[in-house]
Amino acid sequence: GKGAAMVTAVAYRLAEHSREITQTLSEFLLSTEQLLEVKKRMSIEIQNGLSKSTHDSATHGDFLALDLGGTNFRVLLVKIRSGKRRTVEMHNKIYAIPLEVMQGTGEELFDHIVQCISDFLDYMGMKNTRLPLGFTFSFPCRQTSLDAGILVTWTKGFKATDCEGENVVGLLRDAIKRREEFELDVVAIVNDTVGTMMTCAYEEPTCEIGLIAGTGSNACYMEEMRNIEMIDGDEGRMCVNMEWGAFGDNGCLDDMRTEYDRAVDDFSLNQGKQRYEKMCSGMYLGEIVRKILIDMTKRGFLFRGQISETLKTRGIFETKFLSQIESDRLALLQVRSILQHLGLDSSCDDSIIVKRVCGAVSHRAAQLCGAGMAAVVDKIRENRGLDHLDITVGVDGTLYKLHPHFSGVMHQTVNELAPKCNVNFLLSEDGSGKGAALITAVGCRIRQELSN
Ligand code: GLC
Repeated sequence: GKGAAMVTAVAYRLAEHSREITQTLSEFLLSTEQLLEVKKRMSIEIQNGLSKSTHDSATHGDFLALDLGGTNFRVLLVKIRSGKRRTVEMHNKIYAIPLEVMQGTGEELFDHIVQCISDFLDYMGMKNTRLPLGFTFSFPCRQTSLDAGILVTWTKGFKATDCEGENVVGLLRDAIKRREEFELDVVAIVNDTVGTMMTCAYEEPTCEIGLIAGTGSNACYMEEMRNIEMIDGDEGRMCVNMEWGAFGDNGCLDDMRTEYDRAVDDFSLNQGKQRYEKMCSGMYLGEIVRKILIDMTKRGFLFRGQISETLKTRGIFETKFLSQIESDRLALLQVRSILQHLGLDSSCDDSIIVKRVCGAVSHRAAQLCGAGMAAVVDKIRENRGLDHLDITVGVDGTLYKLHPHFSGVMHQTVNELAPKCNVNFLLSEDGSGKGAALITAVGCRIRQELSN
């Protein structure tokens, strides 16, 4: 009768929704051919980066380190003891950087940073010692010496004025002078990837790559001097900060970007920039998910077709939420309660769909990141003329550490796409802070040797 007809109609509609959802998410599926293509394009860009003439690169004691550009801004005191037993002892404090400071003037930003240092030195009772400082500054810089880095462009939600084109070490020194309260010796500016690689290399000499899969995405690796055209000298190797987040900014990944990727980019602070990073890193994955959910809601597949205020809010899906939602141990009921917590009223079906969406987006991110890494390890292997390479990657970042599947999928992709390399991933505990201190320690020693 009528009832049966209605049930059939509903079932029919549901089946159709399910087909359309699958269809939408299939845009996030990358075939092995596509991933090999990503790897190939990354290799081409590595080559371009190395040859472009316009290109942008046993101690003991106490060192101060600043870590700016990850999930948290931190000030650290690192005590390095070398000798037979290498130990590193660390104390650190996290400080907030209010949005209005992140996007205010450069002076305000650096004054705020120096104020945090001041608070930290009080806390540690060390205001009267002139400590050497290493600055982990995780943004693209043109590095001209150990203690000079010119900010090329802000990334990841920072937008303070009057900093791009400036030496950020100079900006920091000026702010310390303005405050007239304590002295510091800024010895080194370091990218987080480099700090991460250094920290792992301290214990594991085969570590010649650093990877960050967190708020942003980037890698560095040891390149042969003879291949780095803009630097004189052919002997030895040098660490190259790839800034691979900008991969695709010339359009070479556009065929793999979806309408959701384009929407996230359009609403970002740095439109058209960091296209690969926007497909791979924690700051953007949640936004891609949110764009898909909005679209599916509009099409009537989700949340009874009602787009709530919450869903319209940028940045609601932080990495830690995505990680929770995708956890295998979590029952769907718990997924619902996470969504509830975010202010999203979901049915059981809704929560299944949300979980699928998160899975599709993070799986693609991990594969893309793995394809990039495959290009790097094969480049190193070819540099050395080897049929087989054993190598270690030092890794850090919230996405890598918190997400239940990201690391596994990434490892697997690297293995599949670079079968001639045996790649070992080593988690760097607090690489960016510790690494800055290690590099500062070396910097101090070189200075001493030069002055002797
Ligand atoms: C962004 C920055 C880069 C940093 C990465 C990870 O891509 O431009 O310098 O290494 O984020 O924090």
